[in-house]
Amino acid sequence: MDALPSLREFSRQAVGAALEKQADLPDLLVVDGTAGNGHDALFLARTLARLSPSFRLLAFDLQEAALAATRSRLAAAGLDGYLQCLAHGHETLARHLGAERIAAAMFNLGFLPRSDRALVTKAATTLAALEAALSALRPRGILSVHAYGGHPGGREELAAVEDWFSALPASRATAARYALCNKPRNPEVLFLAQPAEGPS
Ligand SMILES: C[S@@+](CC[C@H](N)C(=O)[O-])C[C@H]1O[C@@H](n2cnc3c(N)ncnc32)[C@H](O)[C@@H]1O
Repeated sequence: MDALPSLREFSRQAVGAALEKQADLPDLLVVDGTAGNGHDALFLARTLARLSPSFRLLAFDLQEAALAATRSRLAAAGLDGYLQCLAHGHETLARHLGAERIAAAMFNLGFLPRSDRALVTKAATTLAALEAALSALRPRGILSVHAYGGHPGGREELAAVEDWFSALPASRATAARYALCNKPRNPEVLFLAQPAEGPS
């Protein structure tokens, strides 16, 4: 059973591999679209610290408590100097990035465990953020979205995210979907996308 990677592990393998392939580029910029307790942010910072002398990590969350948890998790690892926390919805990503390109963006949707469940990600704002993230990806960059259907509103968001990935033209991105197939009440799906390679 533990030979099957969890969707979180699967996401990290793919994001880690995409970052390794960009390690030759200067000043890598990555986005954690849902900072939460900072586990994904720590993964991103640790991976980049191993690969690159200079990088930046932008972490979005609507909850100050989530950003504080993320900041202290990275501080405990000596990696908070790379972190910029943004107490804004990830739907503002395009405005914050301007013309900057990103190496990776990770989104772990839903709500923060043991916190206000009203502060949950929602389809419309999630899709705006995904569109901004994919548009800003560097050629070897990667977008990872872990979506859940078990909480109120989750099924609608999961369906919207699935429709969005499925509708991406193959000329724009290669998109993949990984899921556990026998969890009908609490579906969980990992979506990954990379920009399509241009004509050589
Ligand atoms: C499942 S948690 C993220 C877990 C996190 N990635 C980790 O590794 O601990 C989802 C987070 O999304 C945040 N969130 C909800 N709506 C958001 C929005 N529009 N923009 C940014 N964050 C949002 C919630 O506050 C919550 O902290």
